[in-house]
Amino acid sequence: MQLLDGKALAAKIETTVVNEVKELKNKTGLVPGLAVILVGQDPASAAYVNMKKKACDRVGFYSVTHEMPSDISQSAIENTIKMMNNNPNIDGILIQLPLPKHIDTTKLLELVEPSKDVDGFHPYNVGRLTTGLEGFVPCTPLGVMELLNEYNIDVKGKNCVVVGASNIVGKPMASLLLNANATVEICHIFTDDLKKHTLNADMIFVGAGVINLIKEDMVKDGAIIVDIGINRTDDGRLVGDVDFEKVCEKCSYITPVPGGVGPMTIAMLLSNTLKAAKAHAKARV
Ligand code: GUN
Repeated sequence: MQLLDGKALAAKIETTVVNEVKELKNKTGLVPGLAVILVGQDPASAAYVNMKKKACDRVGFYSVTHEMPSDISQSAIENTIKMMNNNPNIDGILIQLPLPKHIDTTKLLELVEPSKDVDGFHPYNVGRLTTGLEGFVPCTPLGVMELLNEYNIDVKGKNCVVVGASNIVGKPMASLLLNANATVEICHIFTDDLKKHTLNADMIFVGAGVINLIKEDMVKDGAIIVDIGINRTDDGRLVGDVDFEKVCEKCSYITPVPGGVGPMTIAMLLSNTLKAAKAHAKARV
């Protein structure tokens, strides 16, 4: 069994981003800028946003976080997005999800200028991804593809089972795998017999948010396991969706939690923001 080390690859990508930021600055005087919208007091969301901000600082991006109370109005968030759309110092806009129940999330995501949609959640970019066209791809599944690529793992013709059908992870993960010529199945909360599907998988991509969802008897020998879950146990440990200790004995490759997919998500946010900044710089001249 070999670990897919996302922490190491993310560090390598950060070094490349640092150098490219310097180059962009020397050539154009411009620095990539990321605006983050954080609504409410959810500790997990606040922790993610804090990690994103620190990463921006490390690579020399300009970043601003708009922290808003949980009872903020729809129109106040919309106005902030419109302001960021028109702000030339901002290349990427990220709305940390989930948002409070009274907020229309879809309407906000649709308001983000697609060229600043570094999370790849605007229907324009979702459509481009499913059509196999160039665009912004959601950071977590993009990070998974980069990690597989680093270890020369080709998904072409492989039976890939995606567990979890969220717009943020499962659906774009499935699109990327399909675009790379994998055979793709998407399982979800209403799937009748999950084990029947996973046992047949060459690769399993699980992001369901359920501790120990994938157990050793659900995995065939030599399978590749990508654990996209992040859960906190009662005693405060960070774990994924896979029963790691037992499953790792059966598989050929597996991502650890933490240190697998998580750091890759942040690295891809940096990479997407740099890509947006380069495109904006090019459009200016
Ligand atoms: N909430 C959980 N994951 C994500 C993510 O990748 N981006 C945003 N904006 N919100 C999230």
